[in-house]
Amino acid sequence: MKDIMTAPFLVKTVRTITEMYRHGWDERNGGNVSLLLDEVEVKDYVDITKVLRTIPTGFEAPELDGRYFLVTSTGSYFRNVQYEPEKDLGLLRLADGGRTAELLWGYEDGGKFTSEFAAHILSHKSRLSVDPQNRVIMHSHPANLIAMTYVHGLDEREFTRTLWRMETECMIVFPDGVNVLPWMLCGTNEIGEATAEKMKTARLVVWAQHGIYGAGSDLDEAFGLIETADKAAEIYLKIAHLPVKQTLTDEDLRLIAGHFGGKVREGWLD
Ligand code: 13P
Ligand code: ZN
Repeated sequence: MKDIMTAPFLVKTVRTITEMYRHGWDERNGGNVSLLLDEVEVKDYVDITKVLRTIPTGFEAPELDGRYFLVTSTGSYFRNVQYEPEKDLGLLRLADGGRTAELLWGYEDGGKFTSEFAAHILSHKSRLSVDPQNRVIMHSHPANLIAMTYVHGLDEREFTRTLWRMETECMIVFPDGVNVLPWMLCGTNEIGEATAEKMKTARLVVWAQHGIYGAGSDLDEAFGLIETADKAAEIYLKIAHLPVKQTLTDEDLRLIAGHFGGKVREGWLD
């Protein structure tokens, strides 16, 4: 077996989580990450016939039975993941129709997957149904986006249009827009199911007064989506109280999408 600490998927995940912390998105244990892996990627690093523990998930996901995921543990401090990945990360395989997670590596202090595991796995299922390349679900607590959910309406079309107008890059990066959930209790199957439903039409889902979920074909894409949306929210907060002299028009936004080949969310431009 090769040393899992050298596995590209582990190295990249640890680097990304460390960067999320540096961005101030993940105070204490805030945030969680899951990465879908193929058996060929993991079998040189762990004995896939040796299940260390089985952990009930509390939900079903038969479509993802037998699939492998690298997942942050509940309570893990993102600041520390780089120093103790074997404790703060776990390599899991779903079994029994998704009702069981088989631990193959990690969670060495006896911990388990994030309390938002339902939101992650059900969102993977949703994203894979519209994009077979999707591999990552990422949750964090970026301050600007959270602040925006206190002072901006939560209509997702209007929320998205405000973000799109905040810098040219937004339409290039997330032409599919941002979906928004009103505040709900976190760590439940209900918020997991609601998030997964929203993930069918956009790769970003804001949780009002809590944070955001991003999805992508790799860690960089999910990270970049959150980074761009939070930057736009920051610009919004800087100008929201000032008289606006000019802005990006719908015509400008259509021009950007046309030039960069983005498929704009149907009906979200006037
Ligand atoms: P976990 O520590 O269980 O991942 O929870 C953090 C969080 O952000 C909850 O929404
Ligand atoms: Zn959270």
